[in-house]
Amino acid sequence: MNNNKKNISNRKSEHVRLCLTDTVSYSKSNGFDYYDFIHFAATEIDINKISLTQKLFNKKIDYPFFISCMTGGYKGSLKINSELAKLASILNIPVGVGSQRQVLENDSLLETYKVIRKNNNDGLVFGNIGVPQIVKSKNPIQVIEKLIDIIEADAMVIHVNPLQELFQAEGELDFNGFLEKLTKITKKIKTPIIIKEVGSGINYESAKLFLDCGASGIDVAGSGGTSWSKVEILRNKNNEHDFWGEWGLRTSYCVRTVAALKKDYKFALFASGGINNSLDFAKSIALGADLSGSARLLLKNIVENGIDETKNMLLEWINDLKKLMFLTGSNNLIEFRNSKILKAEELF
Ligand SMILES: Cc1cc2nc3c(=O)[nH]c(=O)nc-3n(C[C@H](O)[C@H](O)[C@H](O)COP(=O)(O)O)c2cc1C
Repeated sequence: MNNNKKNISNRKSEHVRLCLTDTVSYSKSNGFDYYDFIHFAATEIDINKISLTQKLFNKKIDYPFFISCMTGGYKGSLKINSELAKLASILNIPVGVGSQRQVLENDSLLETYKVIRKNNNDGLVFGNIGVPQIVKSKNPIQVIEKLIDIIEADAMVIHVNPLQELFQAEGELDFNGFLEKLTKITKKIKTPIIIKEVGSGINYESAKLFLDCGASGIDVAGSGGTSWSKVEILRNKNNEHDFWGEWGLRTSYCVRTVAALKKDYKFALFASGGINNSLDFAKSIALGADLSGSARLLLKNIVENGIDETKNMLLEWINDLKKLMFLTGSNNLIEFRNSKILKAEELF
């Protein structure tokens, strides 16, 4: 392995190691604590008849939850991706792999990605690559096609991570020309393209630009959960201003504002960024997300407690969601996304 190849693997491994500690969370909240549900005393819901299934990119999923893109590309990621895929398969929910950048340079770790499809044959699987790889590629369409093929991806995620690149020692800071390349990619490739952040959030105007370029999904990945500037600053052992660790738009703000684009665009809205309990999960759906998902919480749970406990935790979230639908008078997710939640200050 040359140094560059080794560096990518080492970096992926360090990301997971640092994310298993608690020193990489935002201090500020994801913003959902500023909202409350509207209790609806005249509910006529039969809680046992609530169905949470919905169609996403031509496949049926059982719950409005997804396992966000995390890892692959170093030896230890084989077990993690294998277990995340099993979890996704048991619950019939979407799962993403981490950046497939490693594959573009070195075939020896292909299995760490492929396992996500192997252990989740019929499920929804997302590929993943970053903006810098698209910007510097002479043939981004070929790159995306290759990455889709490897895991038979149902959708391809391109992550926009300017804050992370800024503080990564190996960071690549040329994002110029991305939107033009994105338009070319979506015109040529039939597989849906999802644009996601990694924890700093996507605002209304950015989401609109991505949708105008043909994106089929937006994952706001807002702040309030894992802070990727904190991860990279820790890795580099740099002395940076504390405020960089807190940079970003709260997840609740991003979901609420980007959901407004649904009036004019057809796209799947994913909520993530600090979704660490059932209430925030439910609030993000009520604010307009089609699905809500987590990254680091699931990583920690899978590694420390195993698949069964992680599955049970998520099933409790699903039960809580149904209870909240019962209490707000919502027969289905469409009704639940409609006026069931208010800023807490309005409920006085
Ligand atoms: C260990 C780890 C590795 C990650 N790697 C990637 C990645 O390769 N590509 C990506 O798009 N997002 C990556 N993420 C970001 C997550 O998908 C997510 O957007 C972010 O962590 C915020 O969610 P959270 O607060 O639930 O962790 C990673 C997250 C974790 C915890």
